[in-house]
Amino acid sequence: MRSSMLVVMVVLGCAFALTVRADEATGRRGIVATVHPLATEAALAAFSAGGNAIDAAAAAGATLGVVDGFNSGLGGGCFILIHTAAGESLVLDGRETAPAAATAGLFVRDGKADTGASQTGPLAVGVPGALAAYAEAVRRFGRLPLSAALAPGARIAGDGFVIDAGYARKIAAKADDLRRFPASSELFFTSDGSPLAVGDRLVQPDLAASYARIAADGPDWFYRGPFAQAVGEWMAAHGGILTAADFAAYRVVERAPLATPYRRWTVLGSPPPSSGGVHVAQILRMLEGHDLAAAGGTAVREHLLAESMKLAFADRAHWLGDPAFAPVPRGLVDPAYCRALAARIDPDRAAPVTGPGVPPGADAEFFSAGRHTTHFSAADAEGNWVACTATINTHFGSKVIVPGTGIILNNEMDDFSVQPGVPNAFGLVGGAANAVAPGKRPLSSMSPTIVLEDGRPILALGGAGGPTIISQTVQNIVRILDLGQTPGEALVGARIHHQWRPDRLVVEPGISADVRAMLTARGHVLQDDAVIGVSQIVARRPDGTFVGASDPRVDGKAAGW
Ligand code: GLY
Repeated sequence: MRSSMLVVMVVLGCAFALTVRADEATGRRGIVATVHPLATEAALAAFSAGGNAIDAAAAAGATLGVVDGFNSGLGGGCFILIHTAAGESLVLDGRETAPAAATAGLFVRDGKADTGASQTGPLAVGVPGALAAYAEAVRRFGRLPLSAALAPGARIAGDGFVIDAGYARKIAAKADDLRRFPASSELFFTSDGSPLAVGDRLVQPDLAASYARIAADGPDWFYRGPFAQAVGEWMAAHGGILTAADFAAYRVVERAPLATPYRRWTVLGSPPPSSGGVHVAQILRMLEGHDLAAAGGTAVREHLLAESMKLAFADRAHWLGDPAFAPVPRGLVDPAYCRALAARIDPDRAAPVTGPGVPPGADAEFFSAGRHTTHFSAADAEGNWVACTATINTHFGSKVIVPGTGIILNNEMDDFSVQPGVPNAFGLVGGAANAVAPGKRPLSSMSPTIVLEDGRPILALGGAGGPTIISQTVQNIVRILDLGQTPGEALVGARIHHQWRPDRLVVEPGISADVRAMLTARGHVLQDDAVIGVSQIVARRPDGTFVGASDPRVDGKAAGW
């Protein structure tokens, strides 16, 4: 399709019949789905070279940093959820971290939040964690060296690749901010100052050289060597607070996945500092009391979803933050608490949600210590599964490329609550639990998810698009597990999203007029958005073969091996 299917969705605004599906790929030995064909091909090359799903995922992640660099890259962070062939499940938390000099008032000027500073420029940058996480994943669970994961990206960065309409649109949209930083300006604009356009070739020699140095010298080149040094010096000269010592102090944190029973399945997700796992689990638990396949049609199902999302996001705004700094109650996913939340849902009316709930053990039992962003999933016949969501936050992150490095630095500091009640770039509000503090990780919505049936993975999925990641992931799970759809069918279906504040139910054009009318009659205030996020799904079918699909909202690619 894929752009053409999207055009049909947007222009006709029609509901899709269930038989319409995104292109699906199948494989016997392995499967991968990413937002870019070149990243998917890099993953296939890793399989061909004898690598497993972890090597394939790392190759995809490193290549996305070159071909999809406005969304993710080595200057950003990620959460990698892994289920190994040996049956071990874990999360590698490569989330960015606030510099040691960060303070709660970092983005407050004269009593007012300065979201310009939290979103663009030197202060917006947290210590990147993606490289450390990819390196740890392949070292512990892969078969190939890190250099193999970096090689396709290094080659493509050096040779260049042709940018598509989506890439060109993003450069144009962020042109003013990109122009503020000479290395970004040099990369994304022609000699006459116009932004690169669709069909132009983006050549990134500095990025190719950085990838080559990391391949040769290892992640120390980045965290303890010339890269950290160059960033620290640039920051000091341009009003930033990030130092080479912050890079040296960076650590990947291994976390136990949040495992939530949902009907006859177990849903594995990332615990805080991502809110994704907690709220995907919470929403599924609220929905569990309903037969969603027979819940009175699409409008009733969408209403239940929207009301559950609203309650979950109200909890998110109050309770969620880095568990090393804020007490995040485990009771948020307690079955009885989720049932009590579900009991507040009126099947006929959109109910006001004035604030968070109070989960059991709220003062006693805690979690231990794109349309932006990108998700990719991979699996192999040996039984290794990976769901990874990676990001530099909003498009082109902080817009900063330190000259000579080619690496776009994130603006993940904006995922902190810069001031209570002040919305971030995604319109999310937060409280003290997610305030800025030195060495703290900003709250995320990234939701890499693996679903187990009888203890064995059958599904790896996740999405991109800030808070909509949580809603997309829940809807894809419901469509596949409750409605029996294939990954390609689940991805084509129109989506909804509610994040409590603002009190709006966002809907894609494919939500039909009938369903809109029924939702409006229940009291929902609808707001249209052409696209709610981008998801990638791989699955194992009952016959043991794999099927994968890439979201038709972008020109990605799933491929089997
Ligand atoms: N930067 C978006 C997120 O982590 O949710």
